[in-house]
Amino acid sequence: AIDLTGRHFLKELDFSAEEFRRLIDLAAELKAAKRAGTEVPRLRGKNIALIFEKTSTRTRCSFEVAAADQGASTTYLDPSGSQIGHKESVKDTARVLGRMFDGIEFRGSRQSDVEELAAHAGVPVFNGLTDDWHPTQMLADVLTMVEHGHGRPLEETAFAYLGDARNNMGNSYLVTGALLGMDVRIVAPKELWPEETVIARAYELADASGARIALTEDVAEGVRGADFVATDVWVSMGEPKEVWDERIALLAPYAVTMDVLRATGKPDVKFLHCLPAYHDLGTAVGRDIHARYGLDSLEVTDEVFESAHSVVFDEAENRMHTIKAVLVATLAG
Ligand code: CP
Ligand code: NVA
Repeated sequence: AIDLTGRHFLKELDFSAEEFRRLIDLAAELKAAKRAGTEVPRLRGKNIALIFEKTSTRTRCSFEVAAADQGASTTYLDPSGSQIGHKESVKDTARVLGRMFDGIEFRGSRQSDVEELAAHAGVPVFNGLTDDWHPTQMLADVLTMVEHGHGRPLEETAFAYLGDARNNMGNSYLVTGALLGMDVRIVAPKELWPEETVIARAYELADASGARIALTEDVAEGVRGADFVATDVWVSMGEPKEVWDERIALLAPYAVTMDVLRATGKPDVKFLHCLPAYHDLGTAVGRDIHARYGLDSLEVTDEVFESAHSVVFDEAENRMHTIKAVLVATLAG
């Protein structure tokens, strides 16, 4: 039997395919129980710290609602509301919070920070996103692919990720697909492919899992036969404003349009996006981009985002069910 009690959740590479699948199955069970009104709270009396060095809507709310559903309490530490990183080291913070909390979520820039927390906290630490990995997002995406896969096993499921692949989402998609034996396509200009070391790890995983991996600059070739098409923002949190010019120039041909979906040859292709998305430019940041570049959307058109192909809100909801699975698996004991 698979027992994840006391484990950290720092990156996909720390898990076997069986362990990762166990979390997906548990999330599906917890989702069904919540819907049926039969959820059993297994985290009563537990306290969970949520450290956010970067902002969040979905991840924070998922941890809070998941914990509340399971009877646990949470303490939110916002980007400015704690000493961490400013006047107290990550190591000291870990040793303090570890005395008070049963689990600690961390979102920030450096993967080394979440690893350092985990090394010194003495309680499970969960990565809520770093510059390198977004592992809780992968649980939600895989659950969403299972739900929209018409019973097709993951080993027979193909997905293509278009856009900035040299970021947390690009890295995470590549290794997660490789781990689970899927058909993974990274479709991006070569400058924005994941680092060589990440690609090498993915090929190693694929040897064991039977995954098919393709990295290509050719959109038509990359998406052909894909059951799912995914993308992410072209500029991630923490990146300087100056990179917008270059990213837009490099990535404009990789925007997900209806033509891209048609090029899959799959009438039922589904669209994924971790969100937030620049599908219209109605937000404050969006209006600024529209004024500077004259574009109406970036990584995905509004037409695709609002179409029947789009399962982005199922994916967003699944953040909560899958994060709940991580909490229950690691903390319920
Ligand atoms: N997808 C995701 O992580 O969303 P938030 O930044 O809102 O948490
Ligand atoms: N790549 C994005 C993901 C947001 C959920 C970022 O890091 O900003």
